Amino acid sequence: MPLRCHSLLVNDTEEGYVHSFHPSYNSLLTSTFWRTHMKITVIGAGNVGATTAQRIVDKQLANEVVLVDVLEGIPQGKALDIYEATPVEKTDVKVVGTNGYEETADSDIVVITAGIARKPGMSRDDLMNTNSGIVKSCTQAAAAKSPNAIIIVVSNPLDVMTYVAMKVSGFDRHRVFGMAGVLDAARFRSFIALELNVSVEDVNAFVLGGHGDSMVPLPRYSTVAGIPITELMDKAALDRLVKRTRDGGIEIVNYLKTGSAYYAPSSSTVLMVESIVKNKKRILPCAAFMQGEYGLRDTFVGVPVKLGSKGIEEIIQIKLNADEQAALEKSAADVKQSIAKLTL
Ligand code: APR
Repeated sequence: MPLRCHSLLVNDTEEGYVHSFHPSYNSLLTSTFWRTHMKITVIGAGNVGATTAQRIVDKQLANEVVLVDVLEGIPQGKALDIYEATPVEKTDVKVVGTNGYEETADSDIVVITAGIARKPGMSRDDLMNTNSGIVKSCTQAAAAKSPNAIIIVVSNPLDVMTYVAMKVSGFDRHRVFGMAGVLDAARFRSFIALELNVSVEDVNAFVLGGHGDSMVPLPRYSTVAGIPITELMDKAALDRLVKRTRDGGIEIVNYLKTGSAYYAPSSSTVLMVESIVKNKKRILPCAAFMQGEYGLRDTFVGVPVKLGSKGIEEIIQIKLNADEQAALEKSAADVKQSIAKLTL
């Protein structure tokens, strides 16, 4: 028998699943779980943050989206602009812009995109110190208002910033992780599709490791319609695509000159948000804190995880050959070295 619960119409099904209906949840019609209210905060209203907020609203993944930035007027203006599109897009989502954290209270998910881009003359370490201060203050303020939230970090250098967020929030590792692998894999998939002249839909790619030079694309586990790409192209082509994937960020920076990528980064972030909101349990490469998995400990590194309503529900351990394991260990060691330089 259907039963009315607030504005939700709930039916029991044979599988014990819950089917729910809510005006702003039409994309959640069949779900193994539902919430009466989903609130998502995006910190940093720059290119990545604002586009992430827009995509969340367009996909109706929340009832309420809060956009936070230190710049006066920017989050307010962008939030209002995104909200004013909702009658046209028929997306019933409240969008709020603010310079403070009061409005973020009780968020289910907090996405951190705040930070600065590297300026001429700035070393990676300089960038790390500046952005770690920013991520630290954002995390402290957001975690105090939303102690049960899941935190997704997007700010760079990604793996180190995710460590900062976990340490400062004090949250368990399953609730703090970083977005990098989904983007790296999306880039690898795009390049494979272009190379082979096939639909991106049929391409799956696997990328492990840190987000940066030590990224570990895994051609062996990357497929086109189930066929390993190692059978579809020669080593020279593979190496070329792997290199282009590693340099994917800088390729865009070189074109844009005054900024870095944000369309694919925001799409990738929202894929993770969607898996959490809909409890889809997708297997996605994310920066996760290692506690013995892959023989690694006390560092963040990109590995495949199962993402559901509780955040990381499982770290998937795949078999690596000696070269792949060595590359992952090198990548993790690089991140660990950077973490050691942090002054939190
Ligand atoms: N609190 C909130 N927002 C902040 C803070 C802070 N303490 N410090 C900086 N910001 C804001 C800036 O005001 C700016 O609006 O973060 C925003 C960053 O936006 P952009 O400069 O447009 O950078 P973006 O391209 O969005 O990239 C953001 O994501 O992919 C990563 O490498 C990228 O680290 C970078 C981050």
